[in-house]
Amino acid sequence: MALVEARAPADPLVLFRRWFREAQRAGSLQPDAITLATADARGTPSARMVLFKGIEKERVLFYSNYGSRKGRDLAANNRAALVFYWSATGHQVRVSGRVSRLSRAASAAYFHSRPRGAQLSALASRQSRVVPSRAVLEKAVAELDLLYPKTVPLPPDWGGYALRPDWIEFWEHRADRLHDRLRYVRGREGGWRLERLAP
Ligand SMILES: Cc1cc2nc3c(=O)[nH]c(=O)nc-3n(C[C@H](O)[C@H](O)[C@H](O)COP(=O)(O)O)c2cc1C
Repeated sequence: MALVEARAPADPLVLFRRWFREAQRAGSLQPDAITLATADARGTPSARMVLFKGIEKERVLFYSNYGSRKGRDLAANNRAALVFYWSATGHQVRVSGRVSRLSRAASAAYFHSRPRGAQLSALASRQSRVVPSRAVLEKAVAELDLLYPKTVPLPPDWGGYALRPDWIEFWEHRADRLHDRLRYVRGREGGWRLERLAP
């Protein structure tokens, strides 16, 4: 279905949620897998996949290790960009904005909802640091498993991030590569300006 300005909702997150549901229903393999691009203080870019964990207070949520490369990038430069791509529906969504950390309480709530194995791995892993071998990691996990037979504590350097969009672009595949692109740009008073981009 064509992406038409006249039918586009005033709130881009309404359209985002619709497209996300459509991607899930169309059988996308991992509709929540997104590319996160960051840059360090000198502007050197870096991109990787993370998992989209929902929208809260108009912000896009994901979780990671604060000491990882992305974590260090975001501490130095909180501007980041996200890309969603759902081939099953021919849709791409690009989001750009500033990122802040979630509270410890919110991070703990999500952390403890994860499988125990994933919690232990997060506690054992200083993400993105050089490790001598896989055996060292597996030993660390085994030791933590014994140390914390019940609750695995939230690692001090692990938690959630929230990206507040400055702009969101919706891209829809169309015939002959004359694709549709609608961009919502946040205005000064908090509303959104809608514009069409050439494909
Ligand atoms: C599909 C997919 C989902 C991923 N989800 C996450 C995630 O939610 N959080 C995370 O920290 N790493 C996730 N990763 C691993 C990251 O891509 C990356 O290897 C890791 O975060 C280290 O990145 P950095 O060194 O740039 O910080 C995921 C990888 C894939 C392939």
